[in-house]
Amino acid sequence: MAISYDKEQKLFHLQTPNTSYVMGVCEDTHLLHLYYGAKIKSYSVVMENFPIREHRSFECEDISIGAYSTGTLPLEYPVYGHGDYRSPAFHAEYCDGSHITALTYQGYEIKKGKTPLKGLPATYTESDDEAETLYITLMDQLTGLSLILSYTVFEDSDAIVKSVLVKNGGSSSIYLKTVMSSCIHLFDKDYDFVHLEGTWARERSIQKRPLMTGTMSIDSKRTTSSHHHSPFLALARPYATETCGDVYAMSFVYSGNHIETTEVDAFDTTRAMVGINPFGFGWNLNPGEEFQAPEVVLTYSATGFGAMSRTYHKLYRTRLCRGKFRDLERPVLINNWEATYFGFNEEKILRIAEKAKTVGVELMVLDDGWFGKRDSDNCSLGDWVVDKRKLPNGIEGLASKVTELGMQFGLWFEPEMVSEDSDLYRAHPDWCLHVKDRRRTPSRFQLILDMSRPEVRDYVVDAVSSVLSSAPISYVKWDMNRNASEVGSAGYPESQQSEISHRYILGVYEILERLTSAFPDILFEGCSGGGGRFDAGMLYYFPQYWTSDDSDALERLYIQHGTSMVMPACTMGAHVSAVPNHQVRRTTPLKARGDVASVGQLGYELDLNTLSEEEIQAVKAQIIKYKELRHTVHYGEMYRLKSPFDDRCCAWEYVTENQIVLMYCVAHARVGLGRTCVKLEGLDPDAKYRDKESGVVYDGDYLMHVGLYFTDKADLESQLLIFDRV
Ligand code: GLA
Repeated sequence: MAISYDKEQKLFHLQTPNTSYVMGVCEDTHLLHLYYGAKIKSYSVVMENFPIREHRSFECEDISIGAYSTGTLPLEYPVYGHGDYRSPAFHAEYCDGSHITALTYQGYEIKKGKTPLKGLPATYTESDDEAETLYITLMDQLTGLSLILSYTVFEDSDAIVKSVLVKNGGSSSIYLKTVMSSCIHLFDKDYDFVHLEGTWARERSIQKRPLMTGTMSIDSKRTTSSHHHSPFLALARPYATETCGDVYAMSFVYSGNHIETTEVDAFDTTRAMVGINPFGFGWNLNPGEEFQAPEVVLTYSATGFGAMSRTYHKLYRTRLCRGKFRDLERPVLINNWEATYFGFNEEKILRIAEKAKTVGVELMVLDDGWFGKRDSDNCSLGDWVVDKRKLPNGIEGLASKVTELGMQFGLWFEPEMVSEDSDLYRAHPDWCLHVKDRRRTPSRFQLILDMSRPEVRDYVVDAVSSVLSSAPISYVKWDMNRNASEVGSAGYPESQQSEISHRYILGVYEILERLTSAFPDILFEGCSGGGGRFDAGMLYYFPQYWTSDDSDALERLYIQHGTSMVMPACTMGAHVSAVPNHQVRRTTPLKARGDVASVGQLGYELDLNTLSEEEIQAVKAQIIKYKELRHTVHYGEMYRLKSPFDDRCCAWEYVTENQIVLMYCVAHARVGLGRTCVKLEGLDPDAKYRDKESGVVYDGDYLMHVGLYFTDKADLESQLLIFDRV
């Protein structure tokens, strides 16, 4: 059984294939976090072996339950008020103006399966046998507030999924200020704080810094998870590598303001929490109402970052992504954005499509600029009506011609936005996020539609649906090109303005749910100025995401490497674009651009008519090869063998039962240092594998222990090798 309760010792023991998570009920009152780590058979409550009874000077004592120092108890869900001075997981203001909460343990329930979270993206089961969920109820007797902590353990995954439901069972309103989704305690502080930072076109670079006494956090206050800090945190031993060392990881299934925070106290205990950022957050919970906090997916790996990532990849690929495209090989696309920007017409797009068809591209995507009068980025967002100057036959006309070529047709939208210069804004100036009497600060000449309001959501769903129903459209690129400012809503009273940031995200989720269920045959790809909102929440609606606006092959080594810490390859949109690259002006070989993009969801973002015949033949060959390897890359296990952050090269391996794909690329060649040995992982040592190109057959143990040697002669020299099991 995955979850058990020991009545004698009052212990909850959650077991995944390789990990254990243990909580105890202390004196029938406090729910304590006792252990998280490598799987143990059982946990023994030997008080001498555990520091909770230690008395600490200058800490408050809970005499009623035996004089524990309340400031050091490892509470599973800590609150503010009775002498725990660390940052709380929960903080509320009550009708008498007080801020004190005292949670006591009430009981538990263990159920098969996993219940969906109302209005929120979440991991799911397809049958109840796949998982078990533990629900623990805590209550504040004085106010009638109760919290239900839930923990799901999947049969075949080392993930533990946590979330919190808050219920107001009292007779007065409660103002929620902090509701974290997960809190854990580690009983030392010898960890690195590992996170993914970035900005536009440089997303998810891996950062590490040692934990220090006091608090350390990353967060977003942008009303989107952002390019800047992914909603992910790992606490890893300083010596942890891809293959060794403890790693505790937390990935938040949420797309709005988030915080990942640690606090090391004076006694070297580490508290780590993840949740909605309390900054600017407040929620009025009236009697009888509930508040559902989003979920956090935890995983512990005793063998470094590689196993951590593979746990996320598998769970997110199979039990977070949904819909018919989840398990399908997706089309190779061509996108006109960097080929034409706003300067296109039907003829130009058709010329790009025709050429793309000849090399094996399967989907033509028309990007920004097809609606309103959008000749630049300063107008028309919100007016989702085709621009007949550019497309005299409408979207229908163009889409039909593209489908007649034997290709699918896809379209770009940015539905959450409104340009100041648009008919929509002129008709409904109060439909954007704004605060009365304050200036409205544009970004890229645009404001954000107020998705907390039902009438705005209905407008967006209707506008997008009417375009989607009007033509043979198989794919949507859903973009979001700014972060929020002046987060306020004309649709809510003063007392609810602190709810708007979260309500905005709930509104986006509702729209995405409505549209993706109304159009199940359309493949939706997410985007936010590239990978700005590429988070686990979005994967619930978008099985793939445009990883970054930077498609330079070298930059992509870093970006895709960092992204792969959490996201599986099948979710990463990756395009071959023109040289010099439009973001960093670098010229890289077509082969490297193709090889790096082929280990994501391959696409092209240039006018293939500008390539030489030799290059066209190379692109054709790239696509043929991609179609041979994409199943393994997308649905296999990934091993990061060399990191561009640490090595002069990058090597990624993808393995299924029958095939290995190895992408090797030199990041920075150095004279005299150009021989790199790459040892493969995760193979059957007794199996034989044939290199498809050279025909050489290797034993599995040879590839893993002797390895393959690469001679690095020049920057961005790359190899994309396929080995079939023989
Ligand atoms: C964002 C996207 C790009 C492109 C432009 C269009 O920046 O990331 O791929 O769609 O918007 O304006």
